[in-house]
Amino acid sequence: MKSLNLQSLSLIDYPAGRESVILRRLETLENLEVELNDFVAKGYRGTVFSGFIKPSDPFTIPVKVAIKFARSDAGKEQFLLKEARILEYLEAKSVAPVIYYYDEDMIIMEYVDGFPFSFERFFSKEKLVNVIREILEKCFILDRAGVSHSELKGEKHIILTDRGVRFIDFESARFTDSPRNLLQFLGFHIIRKPERLAFLGIDRNIIKKAIGLYKENPISGFKEILGLFHI
Ligand SMILES: Nc1ncnc2c1ncn2[C@@H]1O[C@H](COP(=O)(O)OP(=O)(O)O)[C@@H](O)[C@H]1O
Ligand SMILES: [Mg+2]
Repeated sequence: MKSLNLQSLSLIDYPAGRESVILRRLETLENLEVELNDFVAKGYRGTVFSGFIKPSDPFTIPVKVAIKFARSDAGKEQFLLKEARILEYLEAKSVAPVIYYYDEDMIIMEYVDGFPFSFERFFSKEKLVNVIREILEKCFILDRAGVSHSELKGEKHIILTDRGVRFIDFESARFTDSPRNLLQFLGFHIIRKPERLAFLGIDRNIIKKAIGLYKENPISGFKEILGLFHI
C-alpha cells in the first residue's frame, strides 16, 4: 500500500475512524490485491478513494478503481449493497462504472475518469449537441432498464470520459416501472433554461409535445426528442 497519512487513513471509516474497522477494510483490499491510492471525495453516504488492481505480471497496466467505503453515520440499512446490485445489473450497458467487488463495507468499481457535464463548458455548439445527444441516449438506456438514478438534476453525476458518457453515484438509485431519467435531465438542464433552448434553437412547446409522446410511447417519443437536437 502507498503510505497514506493518518488523516487519510481515518477517512476509510468516516467519521468514526475506528481502528478495527479501518484494519478490516485494509485487509479486504489486501486480499483482493487492490492497492489504495489517494482520497478523492467525501460523499453523502461514503468516502471515495482511488486505487489500483495490482496486475498479475509487470507488463499489464494496472486497472484504476474507485473504492467507496460506507460512512459510519449513514444509517444501519445496507445501502452499499443496494447500490452495488444496481451497478451489477447495469454492468453490460456502458452507462455506469463497472463493478469489481462489493460487500457491506465497500464497493470497488471502475474509476470514471473525466469531467462533469456542464452546458457552459462548450464553446462549440456542434460538440455540445453531440454530448447532449449521448446523454439523452444513456438516459434512455437507464429508463428502458427500469432504473431511476434520481440525481441527474445536478451536473456532478454526469461524467464525460474518453469512452463516452457515464453516470456515477447510484446511491439514491432504485428499480422502478416508471423511471424519469430522460425527463429529469431535459427538465433541469434544458427546458427550465430559456437561454439554453434559444441557443439550441429548440421551441419550448415542441419539445414539451415530444415529451408528452415519450410518456405515451417511449420509442417514438425518444426519436422525436433526439431529432430536435441537431446542429
Ligand atoms: N466510480 C467513480 N469514479 C471516479 N470518481 C468517483 C466514482 N464514484 C464516486 N466518485 C467521486 O466521489 C464523489 C463522491 O461519490 P458519491 O458516489 O457521490 O458518494 P455518495 O454515495 O456518498 O454520495 C463523487 O462526486 C466523485 O467525485
Ligand atoms: Mg453522492
